[in-house]
Amino acid sequence: MTTDLEARIRERIQREGPLTFAAFMEMALYEPGLGYYTSGADRVGPQGDFYTSPAAHPAFAALLGLQVEQLWRLLGAPGAFPVLEVGAGKGLLRDDLHAFLEAFAPACARALRYSALDAGTPGAAWPASAFAGAIISNELFDSLPFHRLVREGDQLREVYVTLLGEGLAEVRAEPSEPALARYLEAEGITLEEGQETEVCLKAGPLLERLAGLLERGLIITVDYGELAPARHSRRRRHGTALCYYRHGTNEDFLRRLGRQDITAHVDFTALVGAGEAAGLENLGFPSQAELLRNLGWEAFAALLPRRGLPATQVQANLFGLRELVKPEGMGRFRALIQGRGLAAGELDGLRYDPQRVARLVALGERLPIPLLREAHTPLLAGRYPHTEVDWSDQLGRWLEEGTSPPPGQASGP
Ligand SMILES: C[S@@+](CC[C@H](N)C(=O)[O-])C[C@H]1O[C@@H](n2cnc3c(N)ncnc32)[C@H](O)[C@@H]1O
Repeated sequence: MTTDLEARIRERIQREGPLTFAAFMEMALYEPGLGYYTSGADRVGPQGDFYTSPAAHPAFAALLGLQVEQLWRLLGAPGAFPVLEVGAGKGLLRDDLHAFLEAFAPACARALRYSALDAGTPGAAWPASAFAGAIISNELFDSLPFHRLVREGDQLREVYVTLLGEGLAEVRAEPSEPALARYLEAEGITLEEGQETEVCLKAGPLLERLAGLLERGLIITVDYGELAPARHSRRRRHGTALCYYRHGTNEDFLRRLGRQDITAHVDFTALVGAGEAAGLENLGFPSQAELLRNLGWEAFAALLPRRGLPATQVQANLFGLRELVKPEGMGRFRALIQGRGLAAGELDGLRYDPQRVARLVALGERLPIPLLREAHTPLLAGRYPHTEVDWSDQLGRWLEEGTSPPPGQASGP
């Protein structure tokens, strides 16, 4: 049966000819009312197709909240403190960050003016003018439409989506725009024969738009991806594009239109370049594990079992907490920290300070560690495929070490 979305894609191909993969993906994910992210369905969490850090455990929001609170103090504790989250989904990160700060730092929570924007919630207004504050995103850039490129002989070719009989099919032809070859050239990337990769031409301009809104403060971009040499390396011969459907992955890009996610690793070099062009400073590029550990992850892990909670609740929460820093999973995601008018050395998220962690531990009951609620993904109970990895070694070491520095301090990109 042809769905409305498929009918629209077919009509457009009949009208305009083959679509670039980026144009196809734009429709599959964002066609108003019909796309994967615009049809109103729950995409993240147990009922959806994948989970993200805010869904894995609310400590992610709380730890980012600690960075937001420090930034608020660095900016002179203003009475109104704007935080813009882009790609906020249903607002879980906003809700948990707010709740944590209300309990931990009420004055900061009162000052917080948090706007959560998402392409799936039309009508929400972008700030009208630049502000001093923070701009946050989690897994935003991996969901922007991308072009798929492949090298055939000495030619760069692009993947298009066309009609073949009754169905959709991929074909390769000349790149749709010179900007694609220029992008790879600017990053010093030469694909080898048969190598595929993805290029997102929307990521840089979006980052520049965000930079234009930041008068002073931080842009914190958390996502999976790498800097260009690793992102487009020969090790990734087949590229990184993937679909997520019911907590599993596949490469059937032309199936389940509007019902499965399509995503690819972020090319952080493009975001760094866009930030520099907009006058931002690159303050750090830690892994998610390093960022969260710098912010106090260990204090949360150490105090959680001392809360007098039932053992099953402790286990479920520790499991979610560990998921955030697991080296083979979300711990390996990256956090690009760009700023204006701030120094890297002063940011809690970019240096491990054992005394700060010890002070958080000393708070005991007064550290309002958030617990899993129905809105989060029950990873321990759920047996989601990505959680079946042994995380014990590194995390065990961290907890035993207590106050020693993390393996590989945060470093600038
Ligand atoms: C992978 S989801 C992540 C949602 C949420 N941040 C989380 O971590 O659970 C990506 C989200 O980014 C949104 N999005 C994509 N492009 C956007 C844009 N240009 N502006 C605002 N939101 C966008 C999508 O609608 C989707 O909700």
